[in-house]
Amino acid sequence: MSGKMMEEIKRLKEEKDVVILAHYYVDGEVQEIADLVGDSYFLAKKATEVTQQNILFCGVSFMGESAKLLNPEKRVIMPDECADCPMAHMVEIDKIEEVRRQYPDVAVVCYVNSTAEIKAHSDVCVTSSNALRVVQKLPNRHIFFIPDNNLGRYVAKQLPEKEFIFNDGFCHVHTSIHVEELAKAKELHPEAKVLSHPECTQDILEISDFIGSTSEIIDFACGSDGKEFIICTEMGVFFELEQKNPGKRFYSVGHRQFCPNMKRITLEKVRDALETLSPEMELPEEIRNQANKPLKRMLELAQ
Ligand code: 13P
Ligand code: SF4
Repeated sequence: MSGKMMEEIKRLKEEKDVVILAHYYVDGEVQEIADLVGDSYFLAKKATEVTQQNILFCGVSFMGESAKLLNPEKRVIMPDECADCPMAHMVEIDKIEEVRRQYPDVAVVCYVNSTAEIKAHSDVCVTSSNALRVVQKLPNRHIFFIPDNNLGRYVAKQLPEKEFIFNDGFCHVHTSIHVEELAKAKELHPEAKVLSHPECTQDILEISDFIGSTSEIIDFACGSDGKEFIICTEMGVFFELEQKNPGKRFYSVGHRQFCPNMKRITLEKVRDALETLSPEMELPEEIRNQANKPLKRMLELAQ
């Protein structure tokens, strides 16, 4: 059944001049039919390089919004419009304005896991793989890091020369990985290296052997001499980890490492979206004109 569906998807995407981009958190079978799979930074960069007229994005809304902001002339198609990241909404515009009044020199640094409206009120975007590099290059001493508290604190620890103002946003998937469960997993697999995403809480990060974005976690596991790894991020990365490393073993920490929004993307929805070239990501021009600036600045500074 899924073999036939995959053939249909291949035929449709060629017929309709569509490139399929997918994040590592979507189901393995969806990753399989994608032309490009990667972390948020890789996908944002690639979205500016692809030649097809239509981009079908297998991921959550903020990822499709970023692709649209960087390619206003292209059609960006989202297989499920309801696939949304809760953290992307976790800061109020009023709070941004208040911090700007309080600290006139502040740089509002916005994790890409945010709505286009929030980006429109920010100075620069970052992803989990380039946050440190980008913030380091900013001349501002005060940094208001939105929306994720954990990524903000992780970056702040490495930049003691800057003064950070934090926000209380979080990812429910990563913060549901508890340190007690990780300790048990370490006891069960004493040889395993712990690889974590910086959206995890600080107590998890403190006992991790490696901290990085989804792509960086995969690269680390591929390049490591280790044979066993405990993975503290969403389960979708296991697909690529296991494909690339048949001799290595990967363990999860609990049963909640599962992003329900990413898992809304199915092969059926991809096929339907290809047939109709919809639902299409649309953004008001006013937001588009403002929100693409911090994204473009990120691409420049992250190089
Ligand atoms: P990456 O930056 O690794 O793609 O992470 C995105 C994300 O949504 C993490 O929860
Ligand atoms: Fe958002 Fe967390 Fe899902 Fe990433 S894993 S898309 S941050 S809810």
